[in-house]
Amino acid sequence: MRDAAPKTIYLKDYTPFGFLIDGVELTFRLSPGATRVLSKIRFRPNPDATDTRFFLHGEDLTLISAAVDGRPVTPRIVEGGIELDAPDAPFTWEAEVEIDPKGNTALEGLYMSNGMYCTQCEAEGFRKITFYPDRPDVMATFKVRIEGDEPVMLSNGNPGASGPGFAEWHDPWPKPAYLFALVAGDLVNHPDTFTTMSGKEVELNIWVRPGDEGKCAFGMDALKRSMKWDEDVYGREYDLDIFNIVAVDDFNMGAMENKGLNVFNSSCVLASPETSTDMNFERIEAIIAHEYFHNWTGNRITCRDWFQLCLKEGLTVFRDQQFTSDMRSAPVKRIDDVLSLRARQFPEDNGPLSHPVRPESFQEINNFYTATVYEKGAEVIGMLKRLVGDEGYAKALDLYFDRHDGDAATIEDWLQVFEDATGRDLTQFKRWYAQSGTPRVTVREAWDDKGTFTLHLSQHTKPTPGQDQKLPQVIPVAVGLLNPNGDEVVPTRMLELTEAEQSFTFDGLSARPIPSVLRGFSAPVILEQEIDNDRRAFLLAHDTDPFNRWEAGRDLARDTLISMIREGAAPNPAYLEGLRAVMRDDTLDAAYRALMLGQPTQSELAGILFDTGTTPDPEAIHVASEALRDAKAQALSDLLPGLYDKNQVDGPYSPDADSAGKRSLANAALSLLTRLDGGAAAQAQYDSADNMTLQLAALGALLDAGKGDAALTAFEDQWRHDRLVMDKWFSLQIVYTKPDDVAATTERLTRHADFDMKNPNRFRAVFGALAMSHAGFHYASGAGYDLLADWLIRLDPLNPQTTARMCSAFQTWTRYDDSRQAHAKAALERIAGQASLSRDTTEMVSRILKG
Ligand code: TRP
Ligand code: ZN
Repeated sequence: MRDAAPKTIYLKDYTPFGFLIDGVELTFRLSPGATRVLSKIRFRPNPDATDTRFFLHGEDLTLISAAVDGRPVTPRIVEGGIELDAPDAPFTWEAEVEIDPKGNTALEGLYMSNGMYCTQCEAEGFRKITFYPDRPDVMATFKVRIEGDEPVMLSNGNPGASGPGFAEWHDPWPKPAYLFALVAGDLVNHPDTFTTMSGKEVELNIWVRPGDEGKCAFGMDALKRSMKWDEDVYGREYDLDIFNIVAVDDFNMGAMENKGLNVFNSSCVLASPETSTDMNFERIEAIIAHEYFHNWTGNRITCRDWFQLCLKEGLTVFRDQQFTSDMRSAPVKRIDDVLSLRARQFPEDNGPLSHPVRPESFQEINNFYTATVYEKGAEVIGMLKRLVGDEGYAKALDLYFDRHDGDAATIEDWLQVFEDATGRDLTQFKRWYAQSGTPRVTVREAWDDKGTFTLHLSQHTKPTPGQDQKLPQVIPVAVGLLNPNGDEVVPTRMLELTEAEQSFTFDGLSARPIPSVLRGFSAPVILEQEIDNDRRAFLLAHDTDPFNRWEAGRDLARDTLISMIREGAAPNPAYLEGLRAVMRDDTLDAAYRALMLGQPTQSELAGILFDTGTTPDPEAIHVASEALRDAKAQALSDLLPGLYDKNQVDGPYSPDADSAGKRSLANAALSLLTRLDGGAAAQAQYDSADNMTLQLAALGALLDAGKGDAALTAFEDQWRHDRLVMDKWFSLQIVYTKPDDVAATTERLTRHADFDMKNPNRFRAVFGALAMSHAGFHYASGAGYDLLADWLIRLDPLNPQTTARMCSAFQTWTRYDDSRQAHAKAALERIAGQASLSRDTTEMVSRILKG
């Protein structure tokens, strides 16, 4: 339902709710098309509030009856909910409403997935379950009674009475409504237990549909490791008798941290060697950890309002990144995170959707679960830790948990804790939360022959929508100095760039050093450093910082690609030589070497070209990227068979970092090898693969070589019963289609019997792949834009949230030539012009169209 004029909500308008809640009791009488929800809520006036209006949110609810202190009342229907003249004293509100889970395709509120009842309430879904002050600063304890004939009926907290036809749950921890959850259906569990640091035994369960029992063991192990890690590293103990995870097939995002009852997209929890890749395993481990860590950073301490979303998300992403670094390889994890920041956050921060880590206004909060809030939000915490040191960070976090347990807090509270714990003034640092856009840091060097080396650093951030003026930010720049012979002369030092321009000197050096700047990617900035290929090759060979060593190779690849595109240059021999050296170096971790074999994405190259004054031509970028891959295959031709053979993993499959690293290097080698042997090795790997990591990589290589037809059919026959594997089958075909055929292939796949637009995983498998195919989506004819627009228009009435998220495929449309821009604009305007477009999609399209 489109609101006549979408309303903008501002951070500056925050006021507390006029009432506090002493307790909530809910009864659900389950029925697919007509579930009854009875609520009994004890309110009392909030002494700290000035606005005493009694307003309850409600959407798509049929009100059956309402009463105050047992007397029937007729509330006034107002926009987005109901209003009542409430007593100026404690009172009990009771209501009965009817809702329609079966008709709920938006997957928000109470809905059905494969015959199973489930809920998704963050951010504002609880108002689709009953009338309630649906805002995160209203916290209450919940008692829930579920009536129905489902074999398993779950809610938050600890289990209470249960019997035939009913189950009761009691959550003793006050929580906001967005953390409410209910699941009911024919489920089976994978049980286990965990003993907490104070000796309390917690019952653990992963609940799945019958048939998926065999895919739970890895998730359970990841959960137990997460619980232990949060005790060891943050001193945080679990606080209920039971922790339940449920896998759901139809889900808008990855997973949700509902108190004691996490709900997961099945793709983010179910794992088996035969059906999941190493990357799937790693992602599942990280998401399980993420949701578990929310129990303290998000649930025990929640957000005052949705503008503070990064308070829980930035911090929890930072914590799950730390966890993965500890479980696996820290340098590899850092590189992976920077790759994803550059691929997802930089385009957002440097385009029409740019917004601060803490936004100041929104129309639809669902549109702000972004890479900026999550990933840049995590980077901001990493910088804070670098600036105050590990000890300062530990002290600040202890104080945060101590001071704010049970609160709905703000970014101001968070920064105050750091100021109080460390004595550091964070006034300027706060700009990281308020200013959007990626700062650009320029480096100039000077050497005076008397042993003094100077780095002149300057910073600049381009204007972003709504922010013309940018002030200097506090940027921690980690720098180390190397001798010309490759030894480190000055170990990593954290320079603090706080001014627009600033100089830093290093004295007492015997020779002009080679600086290694922004080690470990110490700040989420774009580094503009005028250095030549020899210098990059030197750093690729010698840098002692693993991140910057990788970065040197990446920069070489980027620069050679840019000159191949711009000038038709040949691939840079220095890059290829450097790669050979890295591939010969068996002391380097396999996963790290696999990353070294990668190259910048086509979309990243388009962004760089655009930034430096060239209109990107997607076809030319595609051709150059392929040519560089061919050149790498040629240059490494004598090493590839050995790399492939030496990195085969014997024995039964294990998803550990070491084995996964080897498979990733072997598969990267296979993909280059296929350019030389026409697919022989890939076919052999496909035929003998006993795990999805090997099977999928082989299928990809075969498709890339144009020899994948038979394997594609075999794959479909083998896996048609498995939704998650079939998602891969759908995606992969689009990924390996030539640009001129991408739209047609995508369209053909939408006519496949197993294409189901209502399932977000399947929709994303197909249209996410279309959007990710740079040269295919931005194909000159506009066919890619048109096809995506057609399907977003179809999906919007069913699922606004997923539609709106996928609009971001268009966010870079103004980078391209006039003809492409005209096609993209027409597609966007066609979406915008739909009658009754959702608020979600309306906001996204109008922001993107503003350019
Ligand atoms: N809070 C969840 C997380 O980051 C994400 C989330 C927000 C979500 N809104 C959602 C998940 C809607 C599913 C659907 O862990
Ligand atoms: Zn989260």
